[in-house]
Amino acid sequence: MTFRPAQRGRASLDFLVNLTRGMKAVRGQVEADLASAVPEAGALAEDLDQRDAQVAGALSPSGAWRVSELVGEWQSRMHGLYARESFAEVEDDLAPVLERLQSKGPARLVPRAQGDSAPDYWRGVNFHRTAGGWDDHPMQGYIHGEIVHRRMVEALFPGGIFRQRRALAASAPRAHYRRILDMGASTGHFTEALQETYPDAEIVGVDLSLRALEHAERVANAHGWAWQLYQRPAEDTGFESESFDLVASYILLHEIPADVIRAVFAEAFRLLEPGGDMIMSDVTRYADMDKLAVWRADRGARLGGEPHWRESASLDLARVAREAGFADVVAEGIYPHVVRGRKPQ
Ligand SMILES: C[S@@+](CC[C@H](N)C(=O)[O-])C[C@H]1O[C@@H](n2cnc3c(N)ncnc32)[C@H](O)[C@@H]1O
Repeated sequence: MTFRPAQRGRASLDFLVNLTRGMKAVRGQVEADLASAVPEAGALAEDLDQRDAQVAGALSPSGAWRVSELVGEWQSRMHGLYARESFAEVEDDLAPVLERLQSKGPARLVPRAQGDSAPDYWRGVNFHRTAGGWDDHPMQGYIHGEIVHRRMVEALFPGGIFRQRRALAASAPRAHYRRILDMGASTGHFTEALQETYPDAEIVGVDLSLRALEHAERVANAHGWAWQLYQRPAEDTGFESESFDLVASYILLHEIPADVIRAVFAEAFRLLEPGGDMIMSDVTRYADMDKLAVWRADRGARLGGEPHWRESASLDLARVAREAGFADVVAEGIYPHVVRGRKPQ
């Protein structure tokens, strides 16, 4: 399903990607300015808002910093719009293919039941600063999965973002699983890695975004995979207890508040059969970074439209997993940070 933009769209997308690459020297200068403006990083405030005010204030005379902020803000605002525009240019050609892929099966998509609504922490939030959040455009799943992610993000991290998903899927302890749940399946990038790693497993995915799941359905149908996709919250899936032998997620947790993360682990525990495996992965923990790295990550998250990142990245996921009842809990890795556990027999 490779996206082939028209001339203008290609130029816009390439411009955004090359602008990020071209900012390398500016970023280097910002780091040099930071080192002289904040020589004692250890003395920075513990409170993250105070720390941000301290560092941003110290950096304010830096021209490189002002350029970097301006370009970062512009890119955050524009990437989703450019992706949409490049899609609009070829939409008429793509529409019949996408419609056919969505309707032909064998995958199945179950939208949210009528009368149910999205949770408060998700509804109306402009995640990733993509205009309108996850669900605003009728083809947002395709735009996010194929254009933003495969065309832009992958260009900046070649091979890495998909290799990571495959490595995570392959790191589950067993060679075979019977029934796997992917929490926060989105457009199906990690679901695909799970399916390829465990080709005989029945795959179920949940996500809050209907548009993302519609694209996951297209991806599954294009491969002939019978994924069952549900527009349901990971913390309250409604599935039968003990009906999965692996529950996994790739970079879901930073999009939800801490109390809901605890509920997600409790739900994973409920859904697993005794002896079943859990693998959750997320962004780098603040506890694993020094004060300046936390400041960078926290500021980047705010700029990038991630309202729950701070709360989530501050959580000790191993502890959350143990509190949910998991045994043999191990948390490791920087990005992704991975926590594994097993439901006791
Ligand atoms: C960063 S994306 C996940 C990426 C995906 N796993 C992949 O491999 O590309 C986060 C996804 O989590 C979904 N999400 C956020 N909160 C959720 C929740 N409580 N339950 C299920 N999905 C959720 C969002 O709609 C979004 O599609």
